[in-house]
Amino acid sequence: MGANKKILMLPGDGIGPEVMEEVRRVIDWMQDKKLFNLEIQENLIGGSCIDKLGIPIEENTIQLAQEADGVLLGAVGGPKWDNVDFNIRPEAALLKIRKDLGLFANLRPAIVFEALVDASSLKREVIAGLDILIVRELTGGIYFGEPRGVKNLADGIREGRNSLVYNTREVERIARVGFELAQIRGKKLCSIDKANVLESTKMWREEVIRIAPEYPDVELTHMLVDNAAMQLVRDPKQFDVIVTTNLFGDILSDCASMATGSLGMLPSASLGAPDESGYRNALYEPVHGTAPDIAGLGKANPLAMILSFAMMLRYSFEMLTEANRIEEAVETVLNLGLRTEDIMSDGNKIVSTTEMGSAVIAELDKIK
Ligand code: IPM
Ligand code: MG
Repeated sequence: MGANKKILMLPGDGIGPEVMEEVRRVIDWMQDKKLFNLEIQENLIGGSCIDKLGIPIEENTIQLAQEADGVLLGAVGGPKWDNVDFNIRPEAALLKIRKDLGLFANLRPAIVFEALVDASSLKREVIAGLDILIVRELTGGIYFGEPRGVKNLADGIREGRNSLVYNTREVERIARVGFELAQIRGKKLCSIDKANVLESTKMWREEVIRIAPEYPDVELTHMLVDNAAMQLVRDPKQFDVIVTTNLFGDILSDCASMATGSLGMLPSASLGAPDESGYRNALYEPVHGTAPDIAGLGKANPLAMILSFAMMLRYSFEMLTEANRIEEAVETVLNLGLRTEDIMSDGNKIVSTTEMGSAVIAELDKIK
């Protein structure tokens, strides 16, 4: 049996709890098989926390996350909380947990499963076999830069401001994550910026170039973000690893998700600096949001959440065999033609959230 692990589950809002439930069932299966011994704690985050406690996250939750070996998060937010004070909106909880845990590196792999090639709105030849990784800086940039806010000027004019701030240390550490991941993948790193307009990203580019000689086996290129958005839909296979700022990574990862057929397929890992036991208290969450329009209807695709759990096994628990097993099970289920609504196409069978979870577990059972 594997080591004792403690994880914190934060299901969140909308479809978050439904997709998390399927991960819980995968975990139960693994516990039954004595693959590991896991202690699960659970807490509220986002809108559901606001409804109960008036704030989107408790300090205690941050502490539990710090003490856990890994954190699984569903999704936060929804129109119900559109009018709450900006500082206590659901998304503030997510930004706080990322920041307080120092999770500066967000890994967003976009992999096209063969079975889903035709679920994408992009042509088969453009996306078949796609396997790229977006490394998004997650605790800096315009998301956190100061000064920020809205000021009242004279004559009823209001002025809104956000600041795109990076220092060299922040750029260097995220660039190193990009280089190191490129080294164990296709050995290509594309750094994406807006160096022709924004000074802070011109500095970003210069810093990436400065450390590049330390990774002579990696081919480094640079691309402006507007071009990158275009290239991601024109010819995504030209990329291997992409490294970029917080905001650009947010936008480009949604864009890349469309190659995979659905936002419901994209997992992510948010990592801090590793210690000797690996990436402790990293956070794993699907890239998709709360999808309030389908929440509670059993239509949500649990695969991004299940694949996020597989990433947790890989990066935080070093359980590579089990991570591979889960990814294989997901692939098999797709090959069998099972589809939630978001990835449905002609000739396949539509299934509910729970049926999809059950199918993955049934496949796990079969893999020796
Ligand atoms: C994401 C989301 C979040 C972000 C929101 C919910 C704050 O869009 O994880 O991509 O912008 O980082
Ligand atoms: Mg986003």
